[in-house]
Amino acid sequence: MTLAQRLNAIPNHERFGIGVLSGTSVDGVDVGLTRLSGTGETTTIKLLAFQTFPIPKPIRERILKNCDKHTATLPEISELNVLVAELFADCILRFLKQHRPKRVDFIASHGQTLWHNPKRERIGKFRIGSTLQVGDGSVIAHRTRILTISNFRTAEFVFGKDGAPLAPYLDFLLFRHAQKNRVLLNLGGISNLTALKANAKKEDVIYFDAGAGNVLIDKAAQRLFQKPFDRDGKLAAQGKVNQSLLRRWLKEPFYRQKPPKSTGRELFTDAYFEQLLADASGISPTDFIATLTALTAQSLVMQLERFVLPNMTLDELIVSGGGANNKTLIEMLKAAFPKSRVLKQDDLTDNPIPAKAKEAVLFAVLGHEFLSGKSASMQTPALLGTLSFPPK
Ligand SMILES: Nc1ncnc2c1ncn2[C@@H]1O[C@H](COP(=O)(O)OP(=O)(O)O)[C@@H](O)[C@H]1O
Ligand SMILES: [Mg+2]
Repeated sequence: MTLAQRLNAIPNHERFGIGVLSGTSVDGVDVGLTRLSGTGETTTIKLLAFQTFPIPKPIRERILKNCDKHTATLPEISELNVLVAELFADCILRFLKQHRPKRVDFIASHGQTLWHNPKRERIGKFRIGSTLQVGDGSVIAHRTRILTISNFRTAEFVFGKDGAPLAPYLDFLLFRHAQKNRVLLNLGGISNLTALKANAKKEDVIYFDAGAGNVLIDKAAQRLFQKPFDRDGKLAAQGKVNQSLLRRWLKEPFYRQKPPKSTGRELFTDAYFEQLLADASGISPTDFIATLTALTAQSLVMQLERFVLPNMTLDELIVSGGGANNKTLIEMLKAAFPKSRVLKQDDLTDNPIPAKAKEAVLFAVLGHEFLSGKSASMQTPALLGTLSFPPK
């Protein structure tokens, strides 16, 4: 078959697509199978199966080492581009063996972000910002023998945008409400939010990365308590928030920057964390983690007040991501918005998909839009994705 014939063979009406990713927390590979039809605002989305696969420790360590410019090396980045693709393909093959779907038309892979720098730098006559997701699409396509779409973020840079966050597209499709003003808050390693006023049109949506979700709390749990994260916020619950430290840390300029904006591990590095630790010398480990948790909450509150609430009242703050399980953090958000309903996405009566599957579904939807030739970019005409064919 020629390439044109192979393109023509891609189903047009209804597609079965797998979304796959590892987030900034590098805590697991999420794999979700979806059935998709329609495009744009009339897309229908059904999640058929979802699973998270653990990332073997040496691979996780290799990824984290190469997310930090002080420890990354070029040979390892090159190697990770293949290694992450092999890992994702292996997870997908195990997923297929277990769930035995009748049909899979495509894989949409986010890959693993190593570097995200939305700040433009002038080089010669060019002004360049960049983002790098490793996990080569052609390796995934060849290993699984399934058509693969990858590289969802880079095209937006051509239009002066950041390729992040991408979640607002799915939030807009799934969560906009006829009467309620909603904010969707995803507490991953980094937090991002999408503000949808009642009956919002695509151009009304306000969205941005808001800073650290779990990334600083995780570092504190690991460094001071030898725990991977603060399960249910129990450590923070034992401490007392230090208000003067909190005020100081809230001065971080990123929180004041106007949206849209994006960030990542390159801001919240080990060195950044070490500085916070140094600021807090003399306070107890539980007070430190409580204050970091308050920083996560208050930085969100401050940005909602500045960038969202002048535009709309807040009826519902709907929280997803692993951080939604941090009860101390959620209580702090509830206290800040006593007139709003602050709830976990899974507690919505009309919840369209389980919260843990949200990002896998997002990439499946983005892959589906790409194959339909439709832009899933919120503010630009960019066609998000790169296509890799399997071998014949
Ligand atoms: N029970 C829990 N209590 C508190 N935090 C949790 C809990 N479960 C998961 N997390 C946090 O969620 C993170 C993973 O969230 P996730 O949404 O997968 O983020 P990412 O998209 O960055 O991978 C973990 O690193 C941890 O910090
Ligand atoms: Mg994750």
